[in-house]
Amino acid sequence: MTGWVDGTSTLDTGTAEPTRPPAGLSVRCRGLVHLYRTFDGHDVVALQGVDVDIKAGERVAFLGPSGSGKSTLLTLFGGVQRPSAGQIFLGDDEISRLSEKALARIRARRVSTMLQGASRNLLSYATAGQNLGFAKLAMAPGDRRQARGDAELLAQMGLTNQANQVVATMSGGQRQRLALACAVVSNPALLLADEPTSQLSHQDRDEVLDLIHSLGDEFGTTILVVTHQPEVAQTFPRTISMLGGRVGSEGRDGAEYVVVGKEGVLHLPAYVAHDWPPGTLVRVEPERRDRVLLTKPTEEAESERSFDGTAGAG
Ligand SMILES: Nc1ncnc2c1ncn2[C@@H]1O[C@H](COP(=O)(O)OP(=O)(O)OP(=O)(O)O)[C@@H](O)[C@H]1O
Ligand SMILES: [Mg+2]
Repeated sequence: MTGWVDGTSTLDTGTAEPTRPPAGLSVRCRGLVHLYRTFDGHDVVALQGVDVDIKAGERVAFLGPSGSGKSTLLTLFGGVQRPSAGQIFLGDDEISRLSEKALARIRARRVSTMLQGASRNLLSYATAGQNLGFAKLAMAPGDRRQARGDAELLAQMGLTNQANQVVATMSGGQRQRLALACAVVSNPALLLADEPTSQLSHQDRDEVLDLIHSLGDEFGTTILVVTHQPEVAQTFPRTISMLGGRVGSEGRDGAEYVVVGKEGVLHLPAYVAHDWPPGTLVRVEPERRDRVLLTKPTEEAESERSFDGTAGAG
């Protein structure tokens, strides 16, 4: 079954004019800072000055170690929580300045956020079909005709037999697939999905990825995904790696980029950092104005230097 749903009937005749698909939303942030206040009154700095530019329709995977701020960044982009400081623009709207009401409208109409941990996105006492119904209730009545068909979506997620099953009785993988179905049912202009495939088998993972990418192919949806899985990240043309609440590095079309931080600080790519532990003395040779060569001297070169008495000189 293909096509759009109008109320309860599916337009799959091929002759009906399809509703114009929503174009993707661009995402831009400047100087984004986020603090969490813990119960004992301490501040945890989750993000410390993040600048990101994502064009409408781009697909980006966010990577990085646990605690590096990936989920925080995604919830701020989705308007689930507000930043402590800095600006966020979705398209032309600076959401960091919008009223609660205006923000709620954008969340309902244009942005879908799938939080980390599938159960947080679902009503556990309701069935799969009811959860999809609730997800659509959040949409503006005029937009509901754009919603995807439940049966089509459940089939695509391999959940046809779960349509009337209560979430509490589903497996982790089934919940994760249902949470994604609920996130995409409204055909959002921006999809934010936090580890959407973390609990899935290889086959389910690939099907979920197909669904995510098909949104981009068909509707130009901007897609931001957090993942720890290299197999997932490599299906995205751009990756952003978070490190300690900042953007550490970026990958575009197979090339790796690092972002210059305050005072010229650069993060080494993880595979280099592994062999060059903190404290390693690295030789810097400017080759040209736009190119610098960094070399870790070999152990022989080091011992020759100390034998010459050149080490520590100057
Ligand atoms: N509600 C909270 N209260 C206090 N500290 C928090 C809260 N949520 C997150 N943090 C802290 O903020 C930092 C960033 O957390 P975040 O969840 O964004 O990381 P992450 O990169 O998504 O990690 P993971 O890969 O484990 O999901 C961490 O130090 C975390 O402990
Ligand atoms: Mg997280």
